[in-house]
Amino acid sequence: MKAITAVQKRLGGFAIDAVELDYSSARYKSTGSYAPPGWLEDLRQYSAIMFGAVGDPDVPDHISLWELILPMRQKFQQFVNVRPCTIYEGMQAPTLKAQSGEDLDWVILRENTEGEYAGQGGRTHVGTPMEVATEVAIFTRMGIERFMRFAFATAAKRPKKLLTIVTKSNAQRYGLTLWDEVAEIVSADYPEVKWDKMLVDAMTVRMIAKPRTLDTIVTTNLQGDILSDLAAGLCGSIGIAPSSSLDPTRTCPSLFEPVHGAAFDIMGKNLANPVAAMLSAVEMLKWLGEQEAAFTLERAVRKSLKEGQTTGDLGGKLSTSEVAEQICSYIEQE
Ligand code: IPM
Ligand code: MN
Repeated sequence: MKAITAVQKRLGGFAIDAVELDYSSARYKSTGSYAPPGWLEDLRQYSAIMFGAVGDPDVPDHISLWELILPMRQKFQQFVNVRPCTIYEGMQAPTLKAQSGEDLDWVILRENTEGEYAGQGGRTHVGTPMEVATEVAIFTRMGIERFMRFAFATAAKRPKKLLTIVTKSNAQRYGLTLWDEVAEIVSADYPEVKWDKMLVDAMTVRMIAKPRTLDTIVTTNLQGDILSDLAAGLCGSIGIAPSSSLDPTRTCPSLFEPVHGAAFDIMGKNLANPVAAMLSAVEMLKWLGEQEAAFTLERAVRKSLKEGQTTGDLGGKLSTSEVAEQICSYIEQE
């Protein structure tokens, strides 16, 4: 919010009317719920949601996830999760094939409402040796098709126009063969897009060994979760990876949040890298049509990375708030 306010001051002519809501683990610990009754309906009135990482060492993860972030993604039909990644100038990439943004410039599109996160399943014979737990992945033709259309349209707008569909359709023979089938159908409408299919295991190797052969990476909910962390690692740190959960129909608000989690080990210590949140704000500003504001913020963030004005995860010496101040002053000086 500090950075967005700095951009507002610098540019004038646009305003973000922001409301801060205390939906959080702290609220859960004092009241027993993450958000007040009717919260999902209340949220519908907003154009966008900026979301911090959620979680608390004292609250089991499945509670924080299913009380807050996952219902928003699902109820608001934010069926695409966009996770851009590249190696910014000044970043120290590990000694792998990809050394710069020329080698690695991808967008990962993760289906965000169904698949392995459908929330279906259960446990029977609990606590007995007979116990059975099921975790059912659900794939619908409609869900896959709307997502696939967004994916091909995204690839068509990128310079390389390459698209790779990642599944595990050799082992998961129902849901993921449906993916392959729908991909064939949708691809017919995008002859300019060159596309291929990969199995997720082999994909991890290709991401490391042949990063230049990839561009738009299209995958299921869980596989996208995993591959986007790998991609963030290849780009230097999970601390700078943004994500957008979009409802491309714009019926419901879209949501913007860092890829990373709550990082319990550094919680409350002013050490977390604020760049992932700021780059998520950049994506939010673009989504809201504020291109100039988005690019102003993005330029300032890139400058801070280039000049090594960073937190410890990137080898820098600054605290969270010092990075934020530095970025705000770049915005003011522009
Ligand atoms: C992410 C996170 C979430 C996910 C968790 C917090 C539910 O890991 O956004 O990548 O698994 O989707
Ligand atoms: Mn994740």
